[in-house]
Amino acid sequence: MKNRKDFERFLAQTGPSYMGLEVDYAQGSYIYDKQGKKYLDFVAGVSALPLGHRPPAVEKAVKKQLERYWHVMVYGEFIQDVQLDFARKMAHILPENLQTVYPVNSGTEATEAAIKIAKKYTGRPHIIAAKKSYHGNTQGSMSVMGYEPRKIPFTPLVPGVEFIEFNKEEDLKKITGQTAAVILETIQGGAGFIEPQHGYLKKVKQRCEETGALLILDEIQTGLHRTGNTFGFEHYGVVPDILITGKALAGGLPVGAVSASYEIMQTLIQPPMGHITTFGGHPVIMAAARATLNELEKIEASRLAAEKEKYIRKKLKHPLINEIRGKGLMLALIMPDKKTADKLILEALNKGLILFWLLYEPRAVRITPPLTVSYDELDQGIEIILKILNDF
Ligand SMILES: Cc1ncc(COP(=O)(O)O)c(C=O)c1O
Repeated sequence: MKNRKDFERFLAQTGPSYMGLEVDYAQGSYIYDKQGKKYLDFVAGVSALPLGHRPPAVEKAVKKQLERYWHVMVYGEFIQDVQLDFARKMAHILPENLQTVYPVNSGTEATEAAIKIAKKYTGRPHIIAAKKSYHGNTQGSMSVMGYEPRKIPFTPLVPGVEFIEFNKEEDLKKITGQTAAVILETIQGGAGFIEPQHGYLKKVKQRCEETGALLILDEIQTGLHRTGNTFGFEHYGVVPDILITGKALAGGLPVGAVSASYEIMQTLIQPPMGHITTFGGHPVIMAAARATLNELEKIEASRLAAEKEKYIRKKLKHPLINEIRGKGLMLALIMPDKKTADKLILEALNKGLILFWLLYEPRAVRITPPLTVSYDELDQGIEIILKILNDF
């Protein structure tokens, strides 16, 4: 009780309620609370734990780096082999035009950097973003957030942003010779795991090419094998000019990254120090990221995500589940209404299963387990969900 009170008093709150699981430790697909209760984690730190909690290969790499050196200098001055190995690995898994990486500390920082790069590279003032998009919570990222109720209290934000409807082809004419970049999530997350349809992303890319605008794809959630491909864009036959990643990239440690061509990235050289970071590319995080990328490749994480999606879709059927949206292990159950979704999430927590909400779709229930979740664990989670729904 005291911890609960202190949590509310001394840690800034992000909303009127919170889940309140009091964490003792975590391992694999489970979190254990202070009372020794075990929770099966179907959220994975909101898609940030592709290998589960404390994956041994990542833990080992982090420990090894901790014993060598920690922070030694701001990003971009010293040559650190651990950063280089990370960058080489990113180049290895990305197409030819995304071979240069700028590591940062979070997803939202990656968004900020991408917008700056696009404006400077093109010399243009405008950004096009999608309604119901989410790219982070800092001022620049919020400016490209397509959800008014969350933005208005924080205005004025960065000017020059116009919104289009995701999947609406007619809106693409809003991309003009004044557009520096179009920023989109490859699959819209907060909106309810909405996939691009009917070649939409290809049409966006084509319009960008016609007008000279850059395409920024936000794969902070869809990237790194979660959707059944190394990157979500591989499903839709497009390659962005700038890619932003984060979340899963360092296996559960804070990270973000911007990838672009060598030529586009050269734009940050002038003015000198026009985009700098103290901790971006931190050696311990880079060690974790390198190990995460290697491990994901080793276990064929994309294949696992695709196979487990099929399994979930086959087993998780109930009249109260209207639809299962998403791809790979980025799935959302669409319930008949918010009340049902809320009840399922809270009841599941009671029964030792962690589920979660999506930002702007109140009927959605998030299922984004670690890609390493076992079939046995999937069965356990599905059984809990079906039992709750049967008892409704
Ligand atoms: C698609 C997308 N972009 C950006 C972000 C922001 O990342 P971060 O919370 O690391 O700043 C998120 C986080 O949920 C996200 O899902």
